[in-house]
Amino acid sequence: MIRFYAENGLFHLQTCEFSYVMQVLDNQQLVHRYFGKKVNRFSSSNKMTYLDRAFAPSPISGNRTFSLDALPLEYSSNGLGDFRSASIEVRNDFGVGLDLKYRAHRISKGKPALEGLPSSFATDDEVETLEIDLYDALTDITLTLFYSVFEEANFLARSAKITTGEHATKIEGCLSFTLDMPRKDFVVHSLMGRYGYEKEWTRTPLTSGRYEIGSVRGASGHSQTPFIALADEAITEDSGEIYTAHLVYSGNFKAFAETSPLHHTRWGIGLNDQAFSWQLEAHQSFQTPEALLSYTDQGLTAMTQTSHAFIKRHLVRSSFVDKARPILINNWEATYFDFTEEKILELAQTASQTGIELFVLDDGWFGRRDDDESSLGDWFVNRAKLPHGLEGLARSVNGLGMEFGLWFEPEMISIDSELYRAHPDWAIQITGRDPIYSREQLVLDLSQDQVCDYIIDSVTRILESANITYVKWDMNRNITSMPETVANGERYEFHHRYMLGLYRILETLTMRFPHILFESCSGGGGRNDLGMIYYMPQAWASDNTDAIGRLSIQEGTSLIYPVNSLGAHVSAVPNHQVGRVTPLETRGNVAMMGGAFGYELDLTSLEQEEIDEITEQVATYKSIRATVQNGQCYRLARTSNTQSTIYVNEDQSQAVFTFVKILAQPEAPLIQVRLKGLDPEAQYHCPRLKETFYGDELMNIGLTMPHVQKDYFSVQYIFNKL
Ligand code: DGJ
Repeated sequence: MIRFYAENGLFHLQTCEFSYVMQVLDNQQLVHRYFGKKVNRFSSSNKMTYLDRAFAPSPISGNRTFSLDALPLEYSSNGLGDFRSASIEVRNDFGVGLDLKYRAHRISKGKPALEGLPSSFATDDEVETLEIDLYDALTDITLTLFYSVFEEANFLARSAKITTGEHATKIEGCLSFTLDMPRKDFVVHSLMGRYGYEKEWTRTPLTSGRYEIGSVRGASGHSQTPFIALADEAITEDSGEIYTAHLVYSGNFKAFAETSPLHHTRWGIGLNDQAFSWQLEAHQSFQTPEALLSYTDQGLTAMTQTSHAFIKRHLVRSSFVDKARPILINNWEATYFDFTEEKILELAQTASQTGIELFVLDDGWFGRRDDDESSLGDWFVNRAKLPHGLEGLARSVNGLGMEFGLWFEPEMISIDSELYRAHPDWAIQITGRDPIYSREQLVLDLSQDQVCDYIIDSVTRILESANITYVKWDMNRNITSMPETVANGERYEFHHRYMLGLYRILETLTMRFPHILFESCSGGGGRNDLGMIYYMPQAWASDNTDAIGRLSIQEGTSLIYPVNSLGAHVSAVPNHQVGRVTPLETRGNVAMMGGAFGYELDLTSLEQEEIDEITEQVATYKSIRATVQNGQCYRLARTSNTQSTIYVNEDQSQAVFTFVKILAQPEAPLIQVRLKGLDPEAQYHCPRLKETFYGDELMNIGLTMPHVQKDYFSVQYIFNKL
């Protein structure tokens, strides 16, 4: 709900859980008044207080108490008296900065999509949008702030659009939002990591000064996630306040939180201003990506569940959003580049006997690609490996009762490729400099329309050539050596133009092939963000397939992203990334917790016993798939040595509980885990324990874990309501 009170210039935005309040002051300055637990009315109990602060500049002669540096601003500019980090930075013939004053606003039902960018959506009944125009008279620049209130879903979408009038300007930074809050005792939650160790849930107390994360890689990256949350120090799974912000974007971004000497916190998220600027000529606009904000005082579980629900309902555009995701076998760790049609069919044959539903052919099927040094860009089938082509292979796989999926890495080009020989200028590089290699490949210049068209056409040709119902879209290096256009002084538009090109490609292909389930990947989770999830509802969470390594990766990813977006596979032992040997049962239990379940190992080399166990795992997963993929997710008791999680379906008739203990300990204490989300009155039968319990017992007293003296032990209990 959005209300405007003309008598005092107040905007009050409400969702089911929070209020967000802004006010236009007498001098038309837009200030931020409140964001937090919902209030029915707002009568300024937190009075605007103006004090004479030393060294605080004032735009009003004779008024020493009005300073932008001390006010909670709704969107701030550089250079004109606010010394904190600015929401927008501009430079033009008039100098730097914008004196942004309220000019007009509009409230409407529904929500406009952002042109050229992924953004949230809803029906007109589910969302209302407020647009506020701020205007700088000297430069004739209008800044429009967008606020879309998803009342039931408890989210607020924010973005900004800069429109020039008679004069040109350069934008040197513009965030999707910043927020000034009157406290600084926060702990910042973010998801950090590295290749093979993505999305580690990181908590950092905000002390004096500044906390910043971000990426300048041309992708959101393995190390950071476009997400930031500010929480109470004492937050638990079930109580405490947490403010969250996602950015719907897959390229360079930054998120920060900084305290002011007056003990306020300014925080925000948006495009990274490093290696960014954007030239606007007269009468042009620039739209920022969208930020998604939420708040709860019900703790971390509520934060997670609200985030999952919102993303599924209002961001994932694919019709697969809540459809059962197929159990797949991917040949990457089974064969790497070394395969023949015969080998692939042998693998598919064995997989089909276990009940696996989809075969995904990974890297190495095109050009002359026998290792990672050639052929990216040459999207035609390698007939030496696949004599019957993709069409023939897909037909054979379909004949085994499985669907067929295919790997691509369309944004890349190998120097050793037909494509490079024909179009060296399509690769991102600086003329006169040696290329900067990464996996011996270069990145295609998606800021060029013709390059995007080539990708669209070549991927289309392949997808139309065979019965392909799944695509794994990989991206295995980051961007360097941008050939910047130098016009009107420095200009750093490349990274954002690349993203706009990529989004055009994804928009075209996902609309053209709505029957295909798209999975995004970037050496695992190197671009696992909401920009990609908008187009591709699944992501390969990490190249680290070790069950123990996966625990923190899956925990961090599912902290904010839907469980069914998370690709998780059982792989071989010793594990190819870390060499660890874990039991097949634990590999299965952990991957099943992951969400979009599958296998990635050479099934043909396994003993019959292991195939039987896999057949059982596949059958089990089918019986719990709906609960894991679309149920509610609760993190239960955990320590550095144990993790436990439960998924409960919507009508609370089934729950899937998983417990993992990493290392055995001498004289190990008994562990009792309290479950969550069950119907307290109902009786639940656990087939594995052959016992029946009441929901309230399991939740209030807890369940005693088996006392097993083995490393990498895990157990999965399914509870069915009687
Ligand atoms: C990186 C991916 O994360 C892997 O799963 C695999 O697809 C390789 N690329 C193939 O080159």
